Amino acid sequence: MLEARYSGDRMPAPMLKTLWRGRRTSNTALDQSGVWRYREMIPFLDKYDSVVTLREGNTPLLPAPKAAQYGGLDYLTFKHQGFNPTGSFKDNGMTCGASQAVRLGMKRVACVSTGNTSASMAAYSSAGGLQPIIFIPHGNISYGKLAQALEYGAMTLQVEANFDQILALVRNLADKLGIYLLNSVNPFRIEGQKTIIVEMMDYRDWNPPDWIVLPGGNLGNTSAFGKALRELREWGLIDRMPRLAVIQAEGSAPFYDLMHTADRSKLRAVEHPQTLATAIKIGDPVSWPKALYEVEQSRGVVEMVSEQEIADAKAVIGLCGIGCEPASAATLAGIRKLTAAGVIAHDADVVAVLTGNVLKDPDYIYRYHTGELEAPGGLRIKPTFGNKPVVVPNDAAKIAALLEN
Ligand code: F0G
Repeated sequence: MLEARYSGDRMPAPMLKTLWRGRRTSNTALDQSGVWRYREMIPFLDKYDSVVTLREGNTPLLPAPKAAQYGGLDYLTFKHQGFNPTGSFKDNGMTCGASQAVRLGMKRVACVSTGNTSASMAAYSSAGGLQPIIFIPHGNISYGKLAQALEYGAMTLQVEANFDQILALVRNLADKLGIYLLNSVNPFRIEGQKTIIVEMMDYRDWNPPDWIVLPGGNLGNTSAFGKALRELREWGLIDRMPRLAVIQAEGSAPFYDLMHTADRSKLRAVEHPQTLATAIKIGDPVSWPKALYEVEQSRGVVEMVSEQEIADAKAVIGLCGIGCEPASAATLAGIRKLTAAGVIAHDADVVAVLTGNVLKDPDYIYRYHTGELEAPGGLRIKPTFGNKPVVVPNDAAKIAALLEN
């Protein structure tokens, strides 16, 4: 695996802060992007004519009192990456990956995905004049994400295998066919995802929280967040390191297992990962060595949560008027467990990163609220916060009576 390292002079921290803040009033594409606005932190391009941007980033920090209470906290903020152009945090990385592909003169790009990477890659590739080819596990991604890939013009191959098997296959194939691979093994994507943290700190006036909580799948985002925090500290942009809390789904939790064994030199893959949070249904995460390093550096923790816990947490996030996709809700479920265990203090300053938009997986939502959601293995999920639609006759008196009750 590769990691971007930079040499050369860097601007002093106070100057960078002023420069970045000033760019928020600019009308140029580069400055309007919540990724390229921070280009001094990701200086891998020598010039910017290859940049493909859909004005990604610029995602809000949203206070969520009901979610805080549910999670056992006095106060909780979500950084919602679902506000991105294609509805997930992948856009922060993809603008960089696609720009690098254009710079290298590539024509075809490929990725393996549980859905969001492919939606994002399809959009950015088409916007940049590249031909996107995506590989997805047949029958295991949500329709919202598949629909996006089709609409954005990706050649879409549904493979009869799981994410881990397809990734191994494609890593081989891409090299042979001269296709540029845009999975999170691509170090430029990681550079882009770093800006999620840079923007978070900028919006908080460079006051770091105690904890940053995120879901873990292939662990690219964990790697990016850790790298960003180390660099911000090194550059003097923040004065202390927040701790990372990575949350996995119980049926796909190889990183959790790794963190809870004495010998962390080798990750034992989960051969048949299971979870309804299909975005993080990954048993053999490629970026685990980087993620392990970053979690250790930040004195972080890894937790895992059940299908029921994810589903209920997701509904609570919905009740805050915020909403997110299932994988994102693992954050709040994890926070609830970690506060109960005394790992996160109730008065800690916590930011949880919601990675995907609520509309990514409407089928899951409908099934939860109507009591039809089934976990892998057939266990019925209880609709603790269920909100069933009611069918009524076309009759004003009956509707009025219903509403009065
Ligand atoms: N949340 C969402 C909504 C995701 O789509 C993903 C990953 C993750 C969390 C986990 O992030 O892999 O960096 O640890 N989705 C990838 C994809 C694998 O193909 O869209 P990670």
